[in-house]
Amino acid sequence: MASSLISRQLALSLQKNLWLSASGCRYVSKAATKTQMEFDYDGPSMKTSVPGPRSQELTKQLGDIQNVGAVNFFCNYEESRGNYLVDVDGNRMLDLYTQISSIPIGYNHPALLKLMTNPHNLSTFVNRPALGILPPENFPDKISESLLSVAPSGMSRVQTMACGSCSNENAFKSMFIWYRNKERGQTAPSDQDLSTCMVNQAPGCPDLSILSFMGSFHGRTMGCLATTHSKVIHKLDIPSFDWPIAPFPRLQYPLEEFTRENAQEESRCLEEVEDLIVKWRQKGKPVAGIVVEPIQAEGGDNHASPDFFRSLRNIARKHGSAFHVDEVQTGGGTTGKFWAHEHWGMDDPADIVSFSKKLLTGGYFQRDELQPDKPYRIFNTWMGDPSKNLFLAEVLNVIHRENLLEEVTRSGKALLKGLYELQGQYPNILSRARGQGTFCAVDICDDETRNSIMLKARDKGVILGGCGDRSIRFRPALVFKEYHVHIFLNIFSDVLAQLK
Ligand SMILES: Cc1ncc(COP(=O)(O)O)c(C=O)c1O
Repeated sequence: MASSLISRQLALSLQKNLWLSASGCRYVSKAATKTQMEFDYDGPSMKTSVPGPRSQELTKQLGDIQNVGAVNFFCNYEESRGNYLVDVDGNRMLDLYTQISSIPIGYNHPALLKLMTNPHNLSTFVNRPALGILPPENFPDKISESLLSVAPSGMSRVQTMACGSCSNENAFKSMFIWYRNKERGQTAPSDQDLSTCMVNQAPGCPDLSILSFMGSFHGRTMGCLATTHSKVIHKLDIPSFDWPIAPFPRLQYPLEEFTRENAQEESRCLEEVEDLIVKWRQKGKPVAGIVVEPIQAEGGDNHASPDFFRSLRNIARKHGSAFHVDEVQTGGGTTGKFWAHEHWGMDDPADIVSFSKKLLTGGYFQRDELQPDKPYRIFNTWMGDPSKNLFLAEVLNVIHRENLLEEVTRSGKALLKGLYELQGQYPNILSRARGQGTFCAVDICDDETRNSIMLKARDKGVILGGCGDRSIRFRPALVFKEYHVHIFLNIFSDVLAQLK
């Protein structure tokens, strides 16, 4: 396997010159064609509309096995490179959605392919251990090299998990265990605690709660879903907890024109948070933790100021609740800092920070006090996957070596500038352009127009994602450079011109 991968890699680097000389797409501006990235195509190239005939055939085939309502098209991952996703009909598209924001350094990055060819790594790929009981010899070193090297301020403990929901679900459990241990002090759980927990009754299963925000998305498992409030489709028919839900600020744009109004809006939400904490304590369901996204993503790319988050963190501390920052979507460099919470400028930003997506492995960092007191309280079979730590360590090297956080900041500025310009040109279609790094979004006049823009853009070779009721979100990889921004803006502007 290793040797065939090496020869494929060599063949690809030879082919690269051919791709660079082939013209990609007629919308590409002169500035946009300057390719600096080593392993990327020079532009989109479309052969059919999307989904093309082969994708349609495969969708039908899979439809006999699963619900395929969400399938966009089928992909050719072997041929995909850098910022470009290739589909089974040979269409090559500039990807600004990157598998729901989960491809850190583009498709088939040579540094990651090289890892696969190193014989020392093979056993890590082949043997997936039950990490909680039988970790490999190099696990402490690998975790230090990867995750601990990017630990948020004040945190030296990390627990790996599989996906984002699984990370949040276990982070919630950690907060509950911590809260009850705090209440018990030095005393061990009572006999009543032990007997009632087996039949889902208090005090063993205490009536504790987690405060979340309207518009948030923290995953789809049962606990996470109780804190997810972005779309009906996620929640319908699933029983849930009676946990408090606070309003999340709805900022007005441009920010500099609405400073006073936005400050008032944030104060209103913070007051509501405190009221809810008090109300739920009175109800006998104390708030053990507050969970928040630094930017509400799925719910519509809703931002709040660093002041808002600093105050929220202080409210959590004041009321003895843990503060959980969900960086599943914002983490990994996309906002121009490795963690979005770094923009708040705090030494002690959170008690728990969860991650997944761009970090390739799921998991969460926690402060020492949140570490569970006994084995098996936080546990599952795999507890993550060491092969993902290998990839992550390499991703971090690439981020560092190629100064990708600076690149993200630069590309993000160009993207936002372009969106502002288009918003000025098409005020009836676009509004509220916003973003941090390349984690940007823009609102479209209505849901129908939003969907039509996304389909038209895709047929011209750009993949976009939607969020909230009528926003388009931009989630490119960290290797998305300024010239990619121009390729995108050219196509986006063509699409808008056709709508007018
Ligand atoms: C902020 C946030 N939290 C949690 C999740 C859930 O992650 P997963 O889909 O891996 O379970 C997501 C997924 O989009 C997310 O954006």
